[in-house]
Order: sequence, then structure tokens, then C-alpha cells
Amino acid sequence: MKDVEIVGASFAVPDRVISNDQISQFMDTSDEWISKRTGIKQRYVSSEENTSALASRVAQLLLTKTNLSAEKIDLIIVATMSPDSMTPSTAAIVQGKIAAKNAVAFDISAACSGFSYALSIARSLMLVNHYQHAIVIGAEVLSKLLDWHDRSTAVLFGDGAGGVLLSLTDQKHFLGIALDTFGDLGNKLTAGETKPRVDFLNNQRRMTAFKMDGREVYRFATHQVPKSILSALEMAQLDLDDIDYFLLHQANERIIAQVARKLKQPLEKFPLNIAKYGNTAAASEAILLAECLQNKVIKKGNIIALSGFGGGLTTATIIFKY
Ligand code: ACO
Repeated sequence: MKDVEIVGASFAVPDRVISNDQISQFMDTSDEWISKRTGIKQRYVSSEENTSALASRVAQLLLTKTNLSAEKIDLIIVATMSPDSMTPSTAAIVQGKIAAKNAVAFDISAACSGFSYALSIARSLMLVNHYQHAIVIGAEVLSKLLDWHDRSTAVLFGDGAGGVLLSLTDQKHFLGIALDTFGDLGNKLTAGETKPRVDFLNNQRRMTAFKMDGREVYRFATHQVPKSILSALEMAQLDLDDIDYFLLHQANERIIAQVARKLKQPLEKFPLNIAKYGNTAAASEAILLAECLQNKVIKKGNIIALSGFGGGLTTATIIFKY
């Protein structure tokens, strides 16, 4: 029976690093508050590269790493909540930049759950359409959506991109998938809202900045992420102890610790990189996965639970064998 496997993973971040101390120079906050409440020490903030530029760097790295030519790619999906533009899609820009002329390319929007949603969509399309190779990227330049005077959000997010190259295979790799959406909670986390115009001749365009009910999102995550993991495990017919590593969306170290406690799993099974990158939304799990493969934390045959939550509100867990 056909399935897909991850044959390469890469990530890219902008050059500029902004530490907590630097933020506290222009905002009423402190390294102590940010570190204690979230685990974040610094984040990357783009100065020139937009989302498609970071995503294109990842796509190019994936091609180099896997030794594949761009024409071999059949599908490119970019998960992002901070695209360069409404149209063309970020994925289409990437397709053009890397000259993957045989690839169909489009974006999906599921905020921080986006990478897992995109992986699941890519796998389904590959199986149905017999695509041999696909690139799935989570990419964000969230700094352009932030209100840099709002300390309740500005300190939390960072820019970056991460992705994987998937290939069709005869072995089973994707073992369990749980995707859920809670649209009634959508107003707990919003960004980039646009409104229809009463006076349609008024040419002013406005987009709202990132807004979040932090406590509600925290409650949601600690409640729903364990449920999402358990439901993907049930589909995979596996137990919690069968999972070698839980790669959770890096939004808050305290959320991750609480999920580990709820699942009665040792914190050592939950790799962290939030201190270095902050919350990079759709890029977060992809960057973590790429780092864990690069550092050889994850080895061939390991069973991984990739699990995220975010705007929508949404949750997503994918259990796969590497
Ligand atoms: N620096 C200093 N003080 C601050 C800051 C800051 N950056 N931000 C808020 N405070 C203050 C508040 O004003 C408040 O002060 P008060 O007690 O005098 O009123 C106090 O700190 C506590 O504020 P809370 O919001 O209650 O702090 P909390 O402990 O809940 O931590 C946080 C806030 C970190 C945002 C937490 O709620 C959280 O992580 N929530 C989940 C958010 C999340 O994961 N979002 C990502 C979703 S993924 C996506 O889709 C993009």
C-alpha cells in the first residue's frame, strides 16, 4: 500500500535577532517577565525578506539536501497566516522562484496548526493523484502583523520558515491524523482582518494587527492539545509510550510542560526551541522537526507526534514513523 515519507527537512530564519532586553528598551516589559511566562529569550525579525523569500530559501535547501531537481516536484503547499499578498499565493511565488514548473502550488491558512494541516493535505493529494514528490512549508513574517506597542502580543512572536520534502513510498509512515477546528472561538486570536467599505469610493485600506485573548488561548491549548494527541493515537492504534518524541507547537514552554504533565510523559520527550525563535506560528513545528533531524535527536524508525494549535481556533496532530 502506498504512503508518503519525509525525505528531507530544512529551515531558514532572517538575519536580525531581537532579544528580550532589546524589546524592553522600547516597551514596558522585561526579560524576566517574558522568559518566566513563555520561555522565549529572543526571536528573529525580518527586515527585508518577506514570507515567500524565507519559504523559497527552505525549498531550495530541500532540493539541495535531497538531490532532486525542481522539475521533479509535483506539489508545493505553503501554510502561512502572513502571506506576501492575497494573490499570488506564497506557494506560487516559491514555485516560480525555484522554477518547479511541474508543481501545482497553493497556500493554506490554519495559523499555527497550518503545517500539520498542510502535511495532511499534501499526503492525501499525493496518494490520490500519484504525485511522486511534494514540498510542504510553514512560513511566517509575523512581525509585519504585530502592533509593536502591544506588549501582550509583540513579545511572543518571531519570523521564520521550515519545511519538508515528501516522497511517495511503499511503506506506511503516516500512522494517525487528527485535525479539528473550533470556529466559534475564532475571535480569541485574530490578525489581518479586512472590512467591507460603507463608502466604497474611499480608497483607504486597513488591516488589523494581531489580537489575542492570551488566557483563553492558553486554556484552550492545555485542554485541546492532549485530546488531539490522544485521538491521533487512537487512529494509529498506538499508546502514549510508543511515541519517541512529541514535537509540539512552540507557543509557550508552560503550555508544553502542562501537556506533558497531563499525558504523564517525561518532559525529555518534548524537544524545545522556543527560547531561540519565539512563536513562529505555521513555521514552528517545521523548524523544530528540521532541527531535531539535523541534530540527530530524531533517528530512523522513531515515532513522532507532531501537534499544534492556533488561530481558527484549530488543533492538529500527525503521528508518523520517521
Ligand atoms: N511584559 C510585562 N507584563 C506583561 C506583558 C509583557 N509583555 N504582557 C502582559 N503583561 C502583564 C499584564 O498586563 C498583566 O498585568 P496585571 O496583572 O497588572 O493586569 C500580567 O502581566 C499578567 O497578564 P496575563 O495576560 O494574565 O499573563 P499570562 O500569565 O496569562 O501570560 C501569555 C500571557 C504568555 C500570553 C499566556 O497567556 C499565553 O501564552 N497564552 C497562550 C498564547 C498562545 O499560545 N498564543 C499562540 C497561539 S498560536 C497562533 O495561532 C499564532
